[in-house]
Amino acid sequence: MTYEATKEAKSIAKFHERYYNKDMATFISKSREDTENFARAYAKTLRAGDVVLLDGDMGAGKTVFSKGIAKGLDIQEEVTSPTYAYMNDYDGRLFHYDCYRIESVEQAEQLGLADYFDMGGICLIEWAQNIAPLLPKNVKRVKIIKSGENERTIEY
Ligand SMILES: Nc1ncnc2c1ncn2[C@@H]1O[C@H](COP(=O)(O)OP(=O)(O)O)[C@@H](O)[C@H]1O
Ligand SMILES: [Mg+2]
Repeated sequence: MTYEATKEAKSIAKFHERYYNKDMATFISKSREDTENFARAYAKTLRAGDVVLLDGDMGAGKTVFSKGIAKGLDIQEEVTSPTYAYMNDYDGRLFHYDCYRIESVEQAEQLGLADYFDMGGICLIEWAQNIAPLLPKNVKRVKIIKSGENERTIEY
């Protein structure tokens, strides 16, 4: 690995240590619908101002999960992946982030991505490791692991 890659891997490892070491419960989803329904129920446990880090590889089901969250919050608008916008604002009630393409913390700061953490809505953040230094101290975590073709292990 190059020096930069090593540094990157270390900072991601640190991120996981900080955010994923605590006790988490597990839900096994057997279908897309399962994941969406689980997320819908999970949304009911959230409070205004909560910041949720939504972790998982490409195709794990983060967007499916986000659609369920929005339904659980009674948001009528269809949730789509904010890949190019970095963040989609649903009525100030749900701020859905995709930080996959964020290249630096400075860029994230310039985009004002941290400004929404305390605006009273729920923040749902994909690829949060790319903005780790900007995250508030108290966050909730959801991790989706592809454990089969149509099976997903959801840690929350
Ligand atoms: N149990 C499951 N839960 C969620 N998605 C599933 C499941 N099984 C299969 N899938 C499929 O996996 C894909 C997940 O896509 P998506 O939510 O866009 O992933 P991500 O946003 O994490 O990149 C969808 O095509 C979905 O139909
Ligand atoms: Mg997605």
